[in-house]
Amino acid sequence: QLSIAECLRWKPESEKDNVMVQGYVRSVRGMKTHRFVSLGDGSSLASLQAVVPVDTNQAEGLAIGAAVRLTGKWVPSPGASQSHEMQVTRVEILGPSDAKTFPIQKKYQTPEYLRTIPHLRPRTPINAALLKMRSAAVAALTRFYADNDFTQTHPPILTSSDCEGAGEVFTVAPASNVGELTSEEGQSKMFFRNKKYLTVSTQLHLEALAQSVGNVWTLSPVFRAEKSDTARHLSEFYMLEAEMNFAHDLNEVMDLAEESLRNMCTTMYETHQVQEFLNRDSRVGSDLVNSEEVRKRWEGMMSKDWPRITYTHAIEILKEHAEKLEHTPVWGEGLTSEHEKFLAEHVGKGQPIFVTDYPREIKAFYMREGQSNPEIPAPGPTVECFDLLVPDLCEIAGGSMREHRLGPLLEAMKRHDIVAGDFHSSMDGNAPKDAKAGPLDWYVDLRRWGCAPHGGFGIGFDRLLCYLSGVQTIRDMVSFPRWFGRCDC
Ligand code: 4AD
Ligand code: MG
Repeated sequence: QLSIAECLRWKPESEKDNVMVQGYVRSVRGMKTHRFVSLGDGSSLASLQAVVPVDTNQAEGLAIGAAVRLTGKWVPSPGASQSHEMQVTRVEILGPSDAKTFPIQKKYQTPEYLRTIPHLRPRTPINAALLKMRSAAVAALTRFYADNDFTQTHPPILTSSDCEGAGEVFTVAPASNVGELTSEEGQSKMFFRNKKYLTVSTQLHLEALAQSVGNVWTLSPVFRAEKSDTARHLSEFYMLEAEMNFAHDLNEVMDLAEESLRNMCTTMYETHQVQEFLNRDSRVGSDLVNSEEVRKRWEGMMSKDWPRITYTHAIEILKEHAEKLEHTPVWGEGLTSEHEKFLAEHVGKGQPIFVTDYPREIKAFYMREGQSNPEIPAPGPTVECFDLLVPDLCEIAGGSMREHRLGPLLEAMKRHDIVAGDFHSSMDGNAPKDAKAGPLDWYVDLRRWGCAPHGGFGIGFDRLLCYLSGVQTIRDMVSFPRWFGRCDC
């Protein structure tokens, strides 16, 4: 028994008997004496062409969508479109299908339509190929981090804090508690005693784990209640996060982000899954960026020495080109997606770029104050952080050195209006009754006993895959996408 991809790659000069394949009927053309069946099993964008004599047992069950097993000969094909075809001697219908009502007929289906049937959408060749690519990416990254002695960890999904402080958390409550979330009395009866959230980033917990084993990483689902109705935002997505304990500076953290992505791409590039994707016929799924463009993205990712510029430098560059931009950049404000796109295209020139050292006031509380690259002095306080930008999708990763010193961390929390509790109060059973507890006391605690300099990053895994596959919206990259207003099936 062969997968369809294996079968299609196999080109013997003469007939081979007793070949067995199984998969789903993608189309059937009926002739008087024979049926021509295309079969797919998700292993290849291409279909296997099978010729079935109409009098074969069960041949009448060959309907689009049916799950079948075919046995027969693998023979050189007289047709022009394929080198070989299967001459079928035995048909087994493993799961019948009603051809008339099957929602994925053999014709171009718009992405909007396919999004209405997320449970069937994976059966289209492109969506199957995306699942394979995702799996290969996870395997490559797992190998990379293991080879570099990073410990893979499983940080929690339910948390008591909002890591990014952006107020985009989903609150969690058992069904019986939902009505009580608002009143104080209700909250005291709550399952976890007070409000808990789905995590927006596992970083804070990773920092705790890094203090035990050094370098850690995870690929975890994270959740954001962002009302951003864009091609880049989901409410539930996967983030690859790594934390390096004893990291000296931001360059070391960027080196890791760069090396892991380059390694992942080089490992995957020559594989059948990626090559088939890059060589695909542009008619297959016109909702994808053309394959030449996608090939350039892979080459950029596999290149060495990605440009690194500071935010302050980036603002200078943007100001020089202000006439081409809708919004004039202002030091101290966040970069708009227009700014990010401009930088990715004009500075990156096909390579991903790191923008570092953003103003302190627009970044998260945990980032270490300072300037990793002092070449151009910044006009205000900055933090040692980076955003990794690529054309079209803009930010695919963000990271920083973490504030590892107790005093500066408490000051930063104050500036961000984050309640910092009294010493060790949240977990200390002997703490005085009136001791103030903050949801991040445990995080502050990490600074009390042996906290080394450290840093890390988070890669938006679905955005990354979007970029590398040429899928135009992240909603089509994820099998069961959740975004503002939508969480179906
Ligand atoms: O830049 P972010 O918010 O960084 C963090 O959460 C850090 N705590 C990570 C860390 O240092 N460990 O998110 C990281 C990445 C972004 O660069 C972006 O690619 C992706 O996550 N991302 C999203 N992807 C899809 N949908 C959304 N709503 C996203 N929000 C962020
Ligand atoms: Mg970010």
